Amino acid sequence: MTTGALAGLGSLALSRKEDFKMFVDAPRRTQPARLARQALQALDEVSRTAYERDRRTWHANLGPIKTPQLVSLHEDLWDIVDSNQQDGDKAKGAVAIDAFPGLGKTTAVLAFAREFHRREIAEHGAFTAQGHERWPVCRVGLTGNTGMKDLNRAMLEFFGHPGRQTSTAAQLGLQALDCMLLCEVRLLILDDLHFLKWRKTSGIEVSNHLKWIANEFPVTLLKVGVGLTDKGLFSEGESAGDTALAQTGRRTTRLDMPPFAIDTEQGRRRWRQLLLALEQRIVLADAHPGMLADELSDYLFARSTGHIGSLMTLINRGCQRAVRSGAERLTLNLLDQVRIDAAAEQARAELEHALQAGKATSRPARVRASR
Ligand SMILES: Nc1ncnc2c1ncn2[C@@H]1O[C@H](COP(=O)(O)OP(=O)(O)OP(=O)(O)O)[C@@H](O)[C@H]1O
Ligand SMILES: [Mg+2]
Repeated sequence: MTTGALAGLGSLALSRKEDFKMFVDAPRRTQPARLARQALQALDEVSRTAYERDRRTWHANLGPIKTPQLVSLHEDLWDIVDSNQQDGDKAKGAVAIDAFPGLGKTTAVLAFAREFHRREIAEHGAFTAQGHERWPVCRVGLTGNTGMKDLNRAMLEFFGHPGRQTSTAAQLGLQALDCMLLCEVRLLILDDLHFLKWRKTSGIEVSNHLKWIANEFPVTLLKVGVGLTDKGLFSEGESAGDTALAQTGRRTTRLDMPPFAIDTEQGRRRWRQLLLALEQRIVLADAHPGMLADELSDYLFARSTGHIGSLMTLINRGCQRAVRSGAERLTLNLLDQVRIDAAAEQARAELEHALQAGKATSRPARVRASR
């Protein structure tokens, strides 16, 4: 794979099938070799520039790491998607992934979509029996205040359908259905579903629309978002008018994406595993085994509060700084100068206090005993 094709990935929005295909077909990035300081200094100007650039993009794209959360989500998704291969007349089970921001929902779902797309194409070929392109996955990312019509239009946009500019909401919906039937879509992902305009009246309209999709489209509907439960998407109907919601609730399996936690031994072991996996991927001249898992475990937990999004941002920015400044390793002092998201910074103080006072630890007992 040439660097050129990979460089193109930077500008993908994944809202069109061509972009999605590029994402699916891109091979894994190759990790730049770790050069010792001497070798690094021996590089001539041109090779050095190239090496620095390779490291920059590498550190900016560390992942996805197979965290326990990601692995268990994938297992559940395979169960559900594969059990949904029944005949068209049966309503298919839907999935909702409902978790706080920055816990890796989109990352995990896209990694799954990629595997699923590849498997379907390998099994059934790139074209359908009628000669249309096969698109096993349709993925739509919603943006601020999307209405029903926009949602339908976004589904058509994915396929680059020409009717998308002019029609009414219902027409758009039917056209989207057509596309999905022709292209034999099996998995429809609606990411950031909380952006959908929710009516004050407990979201009946939204719920009905999603139910229509789930009933009519021969797909597994995968809804991803923040606080979907609070928006009443699954609530069992309390009054007679809410039965539509109850039906959605019955058909939807809710999956979670929890943060890392250090209040149990198992949780601490998982945190350590994550840091060990991350260490392997860091390409700095003076990086060494234990740099994160032994020396910075508590610190990194306090900074990220177990949120993978904040952790990855911190490591990414830390590595960029370590390269730029010539420090070539991650240390507490260096990371302390790196700013990350406001939510993580806010939660940090309290946790740091507990960790410093010895009231909590992020390291497994076995590791603490050996030190
Ligand atoms: N398994 C993983 N391995 C490596 N990095 C990850 C992993 N999961 C998430 N990340 C990183 O964490 C960041 C946030 O992840 P992601 O966007 O998937 O979260 P999200 O739950 O979809 O958040 P939001 O609710 O804001 O959309 C991303 O930059 C991503 O690179
Ligand atoms: Mg997301």
